[in-house]
Amino acid sequence: MINYQPLYELLTERNAEHWATILPDQIQQKLNPQAHGNFTQWNAAVEKLPIPAKPSLQLDNDSFKIGQVNELSKEEWQQLDAGLKNLFPWRKGPYDLFGLQLDTEWRSDWKWDRIKDHITPLDKRLVLDVGCGNGYHCWRMLGAGAQMVVGVDPVQLHVLQFQAIRRLYGEAPIYVLPLTLEEIPEKTSIFDTVFSMGVLYHRRSPIDHLTDLRDCLRSGGELVLETLVIEGKLGEVLVPEGRYARMRNVWFLPTCDTLVSWMKRCGFKNIRVVDINQTSMEEQRATPWMTFNSLQDFLDPDNSDLTIEGHPAPRRATIIATID
Ligand SMILES: C[S@@+](CC[C@H](N)C(=O)[O-])C[C@H]1O[C@@H](n2cnc3c(N)ncnc32)[C@H](O)[C@@H]1O
Repeated sequence: MINYQPLYELLTERNAEHWATILPDQIQQKLNPQAHGNFTQWNAAVEKLPIPAKPSLQLDNDSFKIGQVNELSKEEWQQLDAGLKNLFPWRKGPYDLFGLQLDTEWRSDWKWDRIKDHITPLDKRLVLDVGCGNGYHCWRMLGAGAQMVVGVDPVQLHVLQFQAIRRLYGEAPIYVLPLTLEEIPEKTSIFDTVFSMGVLYHRRSPIDHLTDLRDCLRSGGELVLETLVIEGKLGEVLVPEGRYARMRNVWFLPTCDTLVSWMKRCGFKNIRVVDINQTSMEEQRATPWMTFNSLQDFLDPDNSDLTIEGHPAPRRATIIATID
């Protein structure tokens, strides 16, 4: 069971008491057996995981690591392995858990490495990670010194995967809430840094997404936006007619200049493109913890610069901006 009290207290301190008041109901409505057919099974998997006494912890290096192999008994290690397997598939990571290498579909640590030196240091900041998946980057943000990290992601499995990791880690100022960005009350305006990574292209209205992100920030706060882009000029944007890299829910892939112009219209200032990267098959691939198709199956077998549908292959930009 997660104790949300420190989160409610910090929200109240930051004048978001209105959210603190409704949040217990929001969590309860999303995390229960009626909300998802597999909830009971996933929740049982989390509850059967061992609760290690004071494991050694490492969040701030190149990796996420909890404990050493000898910190769990053989029986506990088997419980760990079985419990995590009941939470398949694992997409974001990797996690090193008491020597168990949870090698996920994505090398999410590579994304973190590309952005971490460009952002305003997170020391003592209240951070929001929108579309945080199972919370991998939230842990890295905590490791970078954040006062508290709040992730939101509407997928129950992701939230329960986070809860599994948190059970092994122990008490910490980090929460993954089963919510969409749109379910955060309007104009909450309390976060020092807001991350939106890998979400904008899934939204039907990128402008609404940008304004919702802006409204979560306090005055002077920083947005870290990462999304799919295409090469080209100001004003150009790809809206795939069908699927994109086999995904049905991809809507807008702007050029960097187009995206910057949207951000300006939404009131962002000091806008900087800090990284552009074409996703490699080493960064996104099938592993024993995610055995379904992955990037190599989504690209043209004769030309890895194109998706299987003939669109430009996934290229991601990271853009940092502030608000007044
Ligand atoms: C491609 S993943 C990105 C995960 C992680 N941020 C990263 O960069 O590796 C997109 C995530 O956004 C979540 N998501 C989709 N729509 C959302 C919304 N409206 N609000 C919050 N999260 C959303 C999905 O459930 C999914 O976990």
